[in-house]
Amino acid sequence: MASGPREKFDNNVIEWVDSRLPIFTMLQKEYGVFPTPKNFNYFWNFGAILMIMLGIMIITGITLAMHYTANANLAFDSVERIMRDVNYGWLLRYIHANGASFFFIAVYIHIFRGLYYGSYKQPRELLWMFGVTIFLLMMATAFMGYVLPWGQMSFWGAQVITSFFSAIPLVGEEITVWLRGGFSIDNATLTRFFALHYLMPFVIAAVVALHVWALHVTGSNNPLGIDVKTKQDTLPFNPYYTIKDSFGVLVFMLFYVGFVFFAPNVLGHADNYIPANPLVTPAHIVPEWYFLPFYAILRAFTFGVNLPILIGLAITAFAMKPFFSNKTKEEINLKTVGITFAIAGIFFLIGYFSQYQLESGETMILGGSFISAAFIDAKLCGVLAMFGSIAILFVLPFMDKHPVRSARFRPWFRIATLLLVLDFFVLMVCGAKPAEGFWVPLSQVAMLYYMGYFIIGIPFLSKFEPVLDLPDSIHQAVTQGKTKKSVKKKA
Ligand code: HEM
Repeated sequence: MASGPREKFDNNVIEWVDSRLPIFTMLQKEYGVFPTPKNFNYFWNFGAILMIMLGIMIITGITLAMHYTANANLAFDSVERIMRDVNYGWLLRYIHANGASFFFIAVYIHIFRGLYYGSYKQPRELLWMFGVTIFLLMMATAFMGYVLPWGQMSFWGAQVITSFFSAIPLVGEEITVWLRGGFSIDNATLTRFFALHYLMPFVIAAVVALHVWALHVTGSNNPLGIDVKTKQDTLPFNPYYTIKDSFGVLVFMLFYVGFVFFAPNVLGHADNYIPANPLVTPAHIVPEWYFLPFYAILRAFTFGVNLPILIGLAITAFAMKPFFSNKTKEEINLKTVGITFAIAGIFFLIGYFSQYQLESGETMILGGSFISAAFIDAKLCGVLAMFGSIAILFVLPFMDKHPVRSARFRPWFRIATLLLVLDFFVLMVCGAKPAEGFWVPLSQVAMLYYMGYFIIGIPFLSKFEPVLDLPDSIHQAVTQGKTKKSVKKKA
């Protein structure tokens, strides 16, 4: 494969390698002279921070694996041995365990940055989707890693999470047994989780490579959300952003080592220092803090859903769409609208009858099995909502059609997105509390806001939020200070 023309390096060794494999030319192009918007703020440090964190996790993980024993009878003790006998084993373990937390802190900030500045929008959709894939892989990896010390929370956390799959109709039980490698969480579960926990970070690293590759094709977004137009809008990545990223990484590391050395167990759960015991269930089974918002969404469903009524509502909304579009009365095909309403009506009737059958115990139409098909029970609703809350991020770029990227120039979107951050924290608190009393309705409201933001808010704002005037260029905005205020566009 021929590569394009390349400049010679002064250093003979580098030149020898590069003329055979132009890796230094590639680095120079992608990280040396790479044109980068000149107006990045500190939110743009988090990609680099995440790369460093991934490296730290892989190195400490491999070293821990040299001393860890993946066997249900020995795992807990092997971790204790790492903590007490292995030279600097305690340090390795604390770096790795707190590293998971700090990895998630960084990724949540990174995702929020992408949301706020509209980095998911055209032309960066694929880059964003690789990001969401990484996030899912990170969650799976962290979950399996937490099982490895084989403490009480490891065991019962695995029990709870794997049992989600049993909510899947018809094949749920089989899938759960297959995942666990038996009828309960046991040695087979531990060994497969260890194997996968070792493998996944390398898969993550591969997807990160695709993520950064996609980024270097489109170029970075920036806090103004406008495209780079001329060379004046950019700076070479090196030294400007190598130094800014290094500074960001160092500040982040200060907080991270602060936890490692001074509060290494604060982010974990005390019960995980009790060996796993299948006969004693902990009073409150709580996942790690970074899963809490999703755990709260899972538990927010204390009720099932009548599927036909839900479908009826969706069809009604679809039937009403023409009345809210720019179409004139003559352009609306009333016959089609009528038929659509009639179909919705049929679903409402089925929904009503199945509800009646369920509550009265009478079999009016289609027999008893009809009822089970018509309802999604609370557990399945929770599981669907939890997975849906992440899956929806995949389609976000295609739901948000507003032409402006950055929240700086979208006042409505800005408020909605900042509220989403608050909502995320509320969900996090709800996830940590027992699912009773005040926490149940609170988590339901918070879950509704989360879902509503994506399903209703984003499409609504795409259509109705006014388009404000944007600065002509990054350079102009930076030099003339026009980075925040904007003028309403005249019609
Ligand atoms: C291991 C995890 C990840 C690593 C190592 C990583 C790495 C990076 C790097 C190095 C950049 C360029 C620097 C920057 O803009 O901060 C970047 C940009 C970006 N990342 Fe990630 N990322 C990760 C996870 C994610 C996730 C989970 C998402 C979203 C769900 C995401 C979405 C984006 C987007 C949209 C950009 C472009 C930002 C812009 O140009 O404004 N990334 N990522």
